[in-house]
Formats: sequence, structure tokens, C-alpha cells
Amino acid sequence: TLETSGASTQDRCPIDHSAFTSPGGCPVSPRAAAFDPFTGPYQTDPAASLRWSRDEEPVFYSPELDYWVVTRYEDVKAVFRDNELFSPAIALDKITPTSDEASSVLAQYDYAMSRTLVNEDEPAHMPRRRALMEPFTPAALAHHEPMVRRLTREYVDRFVDSGHVDLVDEMLWEVPLTVALHFLGVPEEDMDTLREYSIAHTVNTWGRPAPEQQVAVAEAVGKFWQFAGTVLDKMRKDPSGHGWMPFGIRVQQEQPDVVTDSYLHSMMMAGIVAAHETTANASANALRLLLEHRDVWEEICDDPGLIPNAVEECLRHSGSVAAWRRLVTADTTIGGIEIPAGAKLLIVNSSANHDERHFDQADDFDIRRDNAGDHLTFGYGSHQCMGKNLARMEIQIFLEELTKRLPHMELVPDQEFTYLPNTSFRGPDHVLVRWDPARNPERADPGLLSLRQPVKIGEPSKNTIARTMTVSELEHLTDDVLLVTLRDTSGRPLPKWSAGSHIDIDCGAVSRQYSLCGDRSDRTALQIAVLHESNSRGGSRWVHTELAVGTTLRMRGPRNHFKLDPDAQRYVFVAGGIGITPVIAMADEVKATGGDYEIHYAGRSRTSMAFLDRLARDHGDRVRIYPSDKGTRMDLANLFATAEEGTQVYSCGPERFLTALSDATAHWPDDALHVEHFSSTLEALDPSKEHAFEVVLKDSGITVPVAADQTVLHALRAANIDAQSDCEEGICGACEVPVLDGAVDHRDLVLTKTERIAGKTMMTCCSRACGSTLTLQL
Ligand code: HEM
Ligand code: FES
Repeated sequence: TLETSGASTQDRCPIDHSAFTSPGGCPVSPRAAAFDPFTGPYQTDPAASLRWSRDEEPVFYSPELDYWVVTRYEDVKAVFRDNELFSPAIALDKITPTSDEASSVLAQYDYAMSRTLVNEDEPAHMPRRRALMEPFTPAALAHHEPMVRRLTREYVDRFVDSGHVDLVDEMLWEVPLTVALHFLGVPEEDMDTLREYSIAHTVNTWGRPAPEQQVAVAEAVGKFWQFAGTVLDKMRKDPSGHGWMPFGIRVQQEQPDVVTDSYLHSMMMAGIVAAHETTANASANALRLLLEHRDVWEEICDDPGLIPNAVEECLRHSGSVAAWRRLVTADTTIGGIEIPAGAKLLIVNSSANHDERHFDQADDFDIRRDNAGDHLTFGYGSHQCMGKNLARMEIQIFLEELTKRLPHMELVPDQEFTYLPNTSFRGPDHVLVRWDPARNPERADPGLLSLRQPVKIGEPSKNTIARTMTVSELEHLTDDVLLVTLRDTSGRPLPKWSAGSHIDIDCGAVSRQYSLCGDRSDRTALQIAVLHESNSRGGSRWVHTELAVGTTLRMRGPRNHFKLDPDAQRYVFVAGGIGITPVIAMADEVKATGGDYEIHYAGRSRTSMAFLDRLARDHGDRVRIYPSDKGTRMDLANLFATAEEGTQVYSCGPERFLTALSDATAHWPDDALHVEHFSSTLEALDPSKEHAFEVVLKDSGITVPVAADQTVLHALRAANIDAQSDCEEGICGACEVPVLDGAVDHRDLVLTKTERIAGKTMMTCCSRACGSTLTLQL
């Protein structure tokens, strides 16, 4: 019997594990007892339905399922990360045991779905994954882009003039299925039959079919199995074709123990589902979500550059794989809860993706979220989805074509969205939309049909997230320095920023970085101060000559490469000329937190120095001014004569000024000096001076070779590992990864000396191995 006491479970697990012999033999909290993923709230919104669990009981036993349910981000990721303690062997098992009758139906079809990749244990899994990875790499996927575009275009052509459509029935189901078949190298078969088979497979694996439904499901699954076998037999006769399955057959000829017959047959069936339904559902979720957030839809219509990150945010917010499974192979704890060997886990990625502990305002749909790509919808670690970049490419192309051709479409009001009841595969059965065909933009401008947004294969970079800003005020602080106030053109609140941050602005043909210097508490405006440089490469001249109140421009960021150390005892700020902009923001922040600081500010003359009034007003006698025309020179050697423990020096200014400062503080503690770098000193890799090495990726379980003329970052991407980057020249810190072993040849400008010596992290865009191997936590 279940003891449903209402006692708080925050402090201790309600389950007496010593008594945990059979389901039902242990006390379970009322909500855990009531958890039913096949009906009700979990079907409507799995993440919301498990909020109680994330907050109060993040790991609980569900007697209904006989599974332990894991709902927090860190716990779900930790389970994905360790594929030996948490075996994937049960990932494709039937979550509802099959009735005898259904089993005998399956037996008639010799149904023998067995290990593929996703449910294969080590040591068999990794060699197989490695042997079969090549067709998934970005270089190989690029060949599929024209096919995905052509298909998408053809399907949209069919309904673009009709004024209404069910996006799922008329496009989002069949295009991913056709792409999947192309990718796998399977001839395009009867789509409706395959649709029926796929749904049956999902219900069979993750659903709870009623007893009377089970036989029909078993029939369809049996036929699907036979179909897979027939296609495979045909392929074996001529395995020279394109596609992942013929590729697999060819690999089998070389490595029969790695790619077995049983694997090929199982994969033939599971591969269609893996590549198809996941993507079809993800696309339908994305369209529903975007059209429900009309303002966001309009933004991506206006700026298709936002699509890649929007796709990532859709995958996070409404992913198509809601939960996945693992088997516990030894007694352990998850999130502090003891779990016995043999326990089965339902790890709810959709819940993890809404965990406030990892994602700010996790329920908000924010296409500029800079950690959207941390979602677990593709799993994580050594089994992470191999097809993720094909899926991303498809969804991006769907959104591009639809935003371009039907920006005015809207959801048919009051439609009820229904979902196939199951634990894992999630997407609406139908998405009905309507529009006025007379307003189709291509009628007025047929040229737009040939516009193409190139797809960037792989995880989107934060660097691509842009917003449109309007210049709301311009003020000359000096003859040469212009204070520019920018507001989001659509009036949306701006992201929070920290002192030292900068934004990137598209100045005509070039992009330039400017430090923020305004009021950090004002979420409606950002301010930069721009010096008109006589030898301007285009950025400052553009700002000074092209900008007027009302001008709109594109901005990325804010980002911070120049962060304040919150623990310093004292701060010395040193600015040369326009270098005052980040410094003033930093001084404001230190003042606000009650820290001890002083500001030294050098310039040509008082009239050329920006912000003197503001400095005097806000920082009073903490400021010293050095106008050189008055003969007041900053004597750096004298100022920094005595090294001070606990004092941090932050400086921005011309290169010569920074070099002098670096010399003057050479005897200071290693990490005392921080300078803002806007340009890199890195040179192109010279393979004759570099050596090749290997990076061992602990979480992914693979070793990636890095050639002498290749960065670690590029080697990772070529191996299909998601890798963030931004500047790609060692100044921003976006590509930092944890290093577990091996000596790093650091070449970035981000890490401090102490951090370099500690060697616990590295920048993959530029730093290399001293020796032959590095082990990374990836
Ligand atoms: C594995 C999700 C699209 C092929 C997985 C896993 C998940 C997943 C959750 C298990 C990860 C783990 O255990 O850590 C998705 C989603 C997709 C998608 C949400 C679409 C939005 C695709 C596509 C393909 C594909 C298009 C093939 C073309 C695979 C394969 C594996 C896999 C082969 C097994 C990898 C292994 O175990 O080593 N996918 N997938 N997936 N997926 Fe996908
Ligand atoms: Fe900027 Fe590597 S991407 S430091």
C-alpha cells in the first residue's frame, strides 16, 4: 500500500530504501503517486506539470511507471554524462509491457528490434558511433542543404495560395520524413503508410496503448519491421548508393563486428523514427510557439538572422523529446537521493530545460537567450543526438521559407492542440494556420523567392544574436567625442549588463565594439561614447557622420571580456583618452557596492576629455586628471612603484599607454593588471611551426585529432561536437572549456597568469596542447 503522507520531502527522501523491494512496498509522496505521464498536465505541458518536482522533490519514485523520475537540469545532465553508471540499454524498451496477444502478433513478423546506437552499452557503442559518424559531420551535411530547401519550397508552393493549411499534415510531417529517407538512402515509399508505422512505433515504445489497441499497434510495428528488412535486403544487393544506411553496409564489410546484422536491421527502423518524428515534432512545436508569440514571429520575419538562435530556444522551450530513459547499474545517489542498482530512470529533459537553476526566467520564450543552446533536448555526452545538425538545418530552413513567404499567417483561433499520449515524443497533431493570399509578399515581389539565408551548420553562436536599435539622443561630450543613446526599436527591455561590457555595432560594412558607459539600472537605453579617430578604419567616422536621431542600426551583445573581480580589496582605474568609457562604468559599479577605488585619467587637454563633469560629480576626490597640455603627465612608474597585495588595476586606453602600464606594473602580483583588448595579437596558424595533437573528450567518449593547421575549435566542430565561439581570436572567452588533463599552450588574452598556470581551462579558438594530448570535459 502507498502511504501518502503529506510530510515535506525536501529534507529527506520519503522512501525507505532498505524496504524498497517492490513497487508499492514503499511510501511515496502524494504527488509522486499521482504522476501520470500519459494523460493530463504532462501531455499538455510536461515542464509545467513537473514544476512541483523541480522545486520540492527533484528525484522521485513513480509507482505508476515503476520508474524514478529526475527533473532538475544538473541531475538530468549528470545522468546523461555517465553512460556506464546510467546505462541507455532501456531507451527503446516498451514502457508499457506488451499483452500476450500483441506479443504473438509481433512474433509473427519475427519482430526483433534490438540494439541500435541509442540503447547500446559500451564497449560496443563507441566504436560503432565513431564508424558511423562521418555522414553527420557539418561538411557532409552541407550536401543536403539544397535538397532540404527544394523540398520545403515545393511543399510551400502547394498551399501558399490557398489561404489556410494544417502545417503538420501538409508540410511538417512529410518534409522531415522525406529528408530522413534521403539521408538514410531509402527510396521514398508510401508516405501515409510510413506515417502510420511511425506513430505505431512511438505508441509501442513510449505510450500506454489500451489492451484493445495493442494488437493493432503490434500489427503496424510488425509491418514496419518487415518493411525495414526488405529495404535493407535490397540495399545489400547494391550498397554503392548515397545515404547513411548504404554507408553503414559498406562499413560492415570492413568492420563486421562493429556494425552487425542485427544492428543494421534495428537501425533501419529506428533510424527512420529518430530522424523523422523528432524533427517533425520539433518543427510543429516551433511553429506553434512562434505564432503564439506574434511579436517574436514578426521579429524573425524582419530579421532572419535571428532564426538560428530562435530554433535553439524553441528546442529548449518546447523540445520534441520530452523525456528519455536510463538504467541504473550500481547503487548510487542522484541529487542526494539514494537509488538502487536496477532502478529505471525517466530523465525529463523538458523539465530540465525549464529549470530556473540553469535558465533565467526559464518559462519565458526569449530568442536572444544566450544559453539557449545548453538545452538537453538532444541529450548530452556520448550518446548525444548524432542528427542534431541535420534537424537544426531543417527547422531553420522551414522557418526561413515560411517567414519569407507567409509572414502574415496566423494560428486559426481557438484551436485545441492535441498530442499523442506518450512519455517522450512530443509535438502537436495539427497546427492550423490561415492568411490572406492576396497579401502574399511574393505576388508583389517575385524576386524574394530567390533570397537565401545561408544556413550555418552547427550550434548557433551567441555572436549572431542581433537586435535593431534606434538612436534616441546624440550629444557632443567634446569636439571629437559623441555620446550615443540607443533604445530597442521595438521598445523591448534591454538585457542586463555588467561594468566592462561592450556592444558590437554594424557601422556600414564593418562591425565595431564600443564599451557601455551609461546607467546600468536603465533597461530602456544603452550609451556609448565614440571618439572620432583621424585614422578611423570606418567605424568611428561612420558613427560621427552617418548617425542622426532616429537612425536604426544593428547591435549584438552586450558582452563582457573585461569583468571586475568582485573580491578585490581596492581598485585602481587607469584611463587614457576614450579608454575612460569602460572605466567610468566600472567606477560607478564599485562605488555602488561601497568598494575602495581611485581613478587616474589622462588626456591631451581638459577640453578633449569626455565625462569630466560626471566624474567630478559622482567620484569627487577619488579622481585625478592628467591633461598633458598643462604638463600634467601620468607618471606610471611612480604611481605603481609599490606593489600592493589585494589591489586590482583596470585599464583601457591606446596600445602604447597600455604597454607602458604593463611595464610599470611588471613587479606587481601576476593577476593584478586587467586591460581591455579589442583587437587580437594572434597570428594565423603556421603549420610548419605547430604540431598536431589529440583532444580526448571525456563526456563524449571520443578522441579528436587536431591537425597542425587547425584550431581545437574547428577540430571539435568537424567532429560534430557543439562548440561555442565568438571572436575566434582569443579575446572574448566564449570558447572556454574545462581541461581535465594535459599541459595547455595558452595563446588567448582572456585568462590571467594564475589561471594559465592552473591549466584548468582553455580557449579552444587559439590555445593548443604543449604535448601530444589534452583531456577536455566535453
Ligand atoms: C540520439 C533527440 C533528430 C539521429 C538522440 C537522443 C535524443 C535525440 C534525445 C538520445 C541522446 C542521449 O542518449 O544522450 C533528437 C531530437 C531531434 C533529433 C530532439 C530533432 C529535433 C535526429 C535526426 C537524426 C537523429 C534528424 C538522424 C538523421 C540520432 C541517432 C542517435 C540519436 C543516430 C543515437 C546516438 C547514440 O546513441 O550514439 N536524438 N534527435 N536524430 N539521434 Fe536524434
Ligand atoms: Fe573568443 Fe575563443 S572565441 S576567445
